[in-house]
Amino acid sequence: MGLVLFLLSWVLPQVWGSSEVLGRSFLFRCLQISSFANSSWWRTDGLAWLGELQTHRWSNASDKIDSLKPWALGTFSSQQYDQLQSIFRGYRSSFTRDIQEFAKMLSLEYPIELQLSAGCEVHPGNISENFVYAAYQGKYILSFQGSAWEPAPHAPHLVESVVKVLNQDRGTSEMLQRLLRDTCPQLVNGILEKGKSELEKQVKPEAWLSRGPSPGPDRLLLVCHVSGFYPQPVRVMWMRDEQEQQGTQRGDILPNADETWYLRATLDVAAGEAAGLACRVKHSSLGGQDLVLYWGEKCWGPAGEGGEVVLKNRGRDWEGWGCHST
Ligand SMILES: *[C@@H]1O[C@H](CO)[C@@H](O)[C@H](O)[C@H]1NC(C)=O
Ligand SMILES: *[C@@H]1O[C@H](CO)[C@@H](O)[C@H](O)[C@H]1NC(C)=O
Ligand SMILES: *[C@@H]1O[C@H](CO)[C@@H](O)[C@H](O)[C@H]1NC(C)=O
Repeated sequence: MGLVLFLLSWVLPQVWGSSEVLGRSFLFRCLQISSFANSSWWRTDGLAWLGELQTHRWSNASDKIDSLKPWALGTFSSQQYDQLQSIFRGYRSSFTRDIQEFAKMLSLEYPIELQLSAGCEVHPGNISENFVYAAYQGKYILSFQGSAWEPAPHAPHLVESVVKVLNQDRGTSEMLQRLLRDTCPQLVNGILEKGKSELEKQVKPEAWLSRGPSPGPDRLLLVCHVSGFYPQPVRVMWMRDEQEQQGTQRGDILPNADETWYLRATLDVAAGEAAGLACRVKHSSLGGQDLVLYWGEKCWGPAGEGGEVVLKNRGRDWEGWGCHST
């Protein structure tokens, strides 16, 4: 007993907050957007995300990388963070200089748009992978693999000369490897420790129905809106009884301003066949109870614009009628 307690108290602080405890992988992505209008006008802006939450922002106008969350520094001390910031400041000015030189050397035409995506994914067991990808004028041109830059498949010929120059700079390559292999997973593990409760939050969706633009004579477009949920994974389907309707079309998952998500699922049906159809929503926040909204003329609540819904808990699920304006 004494040994078990000793082991627990020794092991727990080690793994607390790591992806081990949260039991899933976390992706940390930094995005850089650089625009060069001509040889004298440019700007570089950056942002970083852990999974679905934005953690940092770096404006061209600022020498400081802004933390958007109180836990965005993870377990780094402010001294360690200052060091990182000065590395990135140095990187930003040499990046600008290098691009202007490449533009001269290769006679590139302005405007030039560059986008970089770099970061790491930390899996349970503290295993991590990392990546750096770059795009020029919106097209993927090169990546960093292990310890060297490589042109993307089918990249324009001139990318090879850029890669050759970049690979001669061993100092930058070693710095980049350290940032990707050590600093990035350390930051992620620290963030998972400090930001655990927010990263694990569950926010319940709201759902409502409306009628979309008519797809044709005697046809209806049924629209099921699902909004305000977190995290992202969600299942939304149109059903008749227990039968999922194969014609269900799902849109992209779109962001709300409050760090929750929105999704709509539509179904094109003959006007006479709409009755009895229902939209079913499955989400981790609902504790195994689905949201089920029936298409109908009746409402339990006041009819709102497009359809307001009152939900009643009936047995296993939350059910309601979607009112729709006719
Ligand atoms: C460079 O681009 C900026 C922004 O588009 C513009 O205001 C400026 O006049 C341009 N300068 C030159 C020298 O072309
Ligand atoms: C971006 O920042 C650099 C360095 O501070 C500055 O010289 C440049 O004018 C800025 N670009 C814009 C468009 O503000
Ligand atoms: C996880 O990996 C990082 C980077 O390799 C290392 O610095 C850190 O000590 C590891 N953490 C644990 C809990 O093993």
